[in-house]
Amino acid sequence: MHLALEILVCLLQCVWLWLVAILKAVVPASLQPHKDVSGWVVLVTGSGSGLGRLMSLRFAALGCRLVLWDVNESWNQETEKLVQAASSGAKVKAYTVDLSDREQVYAVADKVKQEVGDVDILINNAGIVTGTMFLETPDSMNIKTMDINCNAHFWTVKSFLPAMLKKNRGHVVSIASAAGLFGVSGLSDYCASKFAAVGFDESLRAELVKKGKTGVKTTVVCPFYINTGMFEGAQTRFPAVLKFLDPPYVVDKIVEAVLTDQAMLCIPKSVYMFYFLRGILPISVNQTIGKLVGVSETMDNFVGRSKSQ
Ligand SMILES: NC(=O)c1ccc[n+]([C@@H]2O[C@H](COP(=O)([O-])OP(=O)(O)OC[C@H]3O[C@@H](n4cnc5c(N)ncnc54)[C@H](O)[C@@H]3O)[C@@H](O)[C@H]2O)c1
Repeated sequence: MHLALEILVCLLQCVWLWLVAILKAVVPASLQPHKDVSGWVVLVTGSGSGLGRLMSLRFAALGCRLVLWDVNESWNQETEKLVQAASSGAKVKAYTVDLSDREQVYAVADKVKQEVGDVDILINNAGIVTGTMFLETPDSMNIKTMDINCNAHFWTVKSFLPAMLKKNRGHVVSIASAAGLFGVSGLSDYCASKFAAVGFDESLRAELVKKGKTGVKTTVVCPFYINTGMFEGAQTRFPAVLKFLDPPYVVDKIVEAVLTDQAMLCIPKSVYMFYFLRGILPISVNQTIGKLVGVSETMDNFVGRSKSQ
């Protein structure tokens, strides 16, 4: 009888939460309640270019204090200058750090805690891609890809989550990829690292729920290709339907997702549909759809980011 009651309560909760989720999906994010993050400390990894730079500018405009982490010192200093120029009086500090070096991550994290204080929003954004077929990818790049795209998330979260838990306030954002939901030819280690980032976010969220830390949120972001230069040369078969995304649009969606405590953000929305189909269809059918969409050919002409930004 006790179990029957528990199942009934669970069902009612599910129906209620489902209705809330549907409401959140249909009501424009701009009309939903937004949390006030002014004065919060936001740490962005990979802030020297692409999404990292744009997110830094957006959060500074919201009155946040910015901590910028990148391995490329000059790109990062450029972001620091841009943030200062765009938001006069913005508090921003750039740190040079190689995220593939665990000891360096811990050392720079300690420095940030001393010099700036606790981090309220941690955005694990830095990423790399080799873009070659698996057997042609050197071991060193397999390791580096896992280290930067996934393992670094472990070290930054270990560094900054404890203070968030103490205050029961904070947000951990993982910039993963649609390649963290679907395997793609020519992206084997990248996909492995992004699947890992998605799994880490989900487990972390489960641990926060278990601990009752309702004030600490996580958001995992799974976008399709974006015009930042990281995937230069990659192509899509039907660009009118699945086109490369504009970085400012993606950043708008990410910031909105953080402010509205959205747990998972896929861009464009069709990624949700493909993810659903992946769950219900046999692998052979998914492969046939993938062939039509040209998933296995997207990386054929990939050249990647040129050295300059
Ligand atoms: N561009 C896309 O098409 C796309 C699509 C989906 C997801 N993503 C993800 O979005 C994130 C941002 O991508 P982007 O397009 O802005 O890329 P980007 O190449 O413009 O920026 C990545 C930044 O990470 C920094 N970085 C690289 N290695 C580092 C290291 N060892 N330590 C510290 N910093 C390091 C780089 O210097 C660079 O500033 C990445 O995680 C990427 O995987 C990108």
